[in-house]
Amino acid sequence: MTSQILQSDIPASLIDLGVGNPAPELLPLDLLRQAAAHALAQGDAAPLQYGFEAGDVRFRQALAVFLSQEYSLKIDFSQLFVSNGVSQALDLICTLYTTPGDVVFAEEPTYFLALRIFADHRLRVVGLPTDEHGLRIDALEDALKRQRPALLYTVPTHQNPSGATLPLDRRRRLVELSQEHGFLVLADEVYHCLSYGEQPPPPLASFVDRGAVLSLGSFSKILAPGLRLGWIQGRADRLQTLAQSGLLDSGGGLNPFTATIVRSALELGLQQQHLDHLRRVYATRLAALDAALQHHLAGQLSYQRPESGFFIWARLLGGLDAEQLLANAKSHGVSFRPGVRFSSKGGLRDFVRLCFAYYDQARLADGVARLADAIAEASAC
Ligand SMILES: Cc1ncc(COP(=O)(O)O)c(C=O)c1O
Repeated sequence: MTSQILQSDIPASLIDLGVGNPAPELLPLDLLRQAAAHALAQGDAAPLQYGFEAGDVRFRQALAVFLSQEYSLKIDFSQLFVSNGVSQALDLICTLYTTPGDVVFAEEPTYFLALRIFADHRLRVVGLPTDEHGLRIDALEDALKRQRPALLYTVPTHQNPSGATLPLDRRRRLVELSQEHGFLVLADEVYHCLSYGEQPPPPLASFVDRGAVLSLGSFSKILAPGLRLGWIQGRADRLQTLAQSGLLDSGGGLNPFTATIVRSALELGLQQQHLDHLRRVYATRLAALDAALQHHLAGQLSYQRPESGFFIWARLLGGLDAEQLLANAKSHGVSFRPGVRFSSKGGLRDFVRLCFAYYDQARLADGVARLADAIAEASAC
């Protein structure tokens, strides 16, 4: 493996708790070999042709069955549009629904790379305060008195980075506000299926018929990011707008060949088995990271233990700046994402995001021990 293949090439000497990738040993090579063999044995060359703009119907039907079960919601394939993953979906929606200078409301903290996509579209991000339950609706109502955003971007379930999950009453009120004030809610529900504890409230996908909501999903975290395959769930007229874009008109539907292989994974039950396995593994890793932090760093970090997702979002209690700590941490062979990366206004400097999905329990414990050494050294200065 070289850096020309992988986005992040982590040296063996470093434990990088900053990555947000699935673990290498959890990438399902055998599963995809089986699914690809099954798909190719059908003798159908259609997936090699330019595809239908909204995505292959048979794939969307299989996805609708899977999501209906996962979301406990009756979903019809006509509500689904195939994307290259959440990142590309965000980019396409910004292209079609915004003009440069428009305002986007986002949670503070928010998924840092969504901020990059909004910047690419010259959008102005306004960060809204959150608490342990996610977006504060009172703060949203206040902000709406001052300005109307084109979009509101939220990760409502097991948020990246905070792990917070928005309760049902806030979901309902958010959707009402989108109707009252005429803005589009972009619900990034990429972690919704990665629930290892209590079941979260219904996804914002369940509101697509009532409010101005598009729900974004992806196979990146439940199967493999290299597939570049995801979906947008929304009302048929909104999906029609996406399907009529120049991008889709010229290139046809996105990723029809990969979608056909993943359709086999769905139909053969392989996706469900893999997801069940991931949930078991990630639950033990979350427990391991939590235990290591309690053991090595009690009193020096504070955090709300997440139910699920990929991350622990922790505040440094000793007045340390996470970015300054990072250089020190790397010299101890450990890394993390400093909180400022998740702020649209240069704040959150005393926070760190730690991922528990990528490493096994032993490496997580080792990483936290190294982090504790780095913090002890930085605190002594
Ligand atoms: C909240 C969130 N949205 C989107 C993505 C990227 O999704 P995709 O690979 O489907 O583009 C990530 C990946 O870390 C994420 O955490």
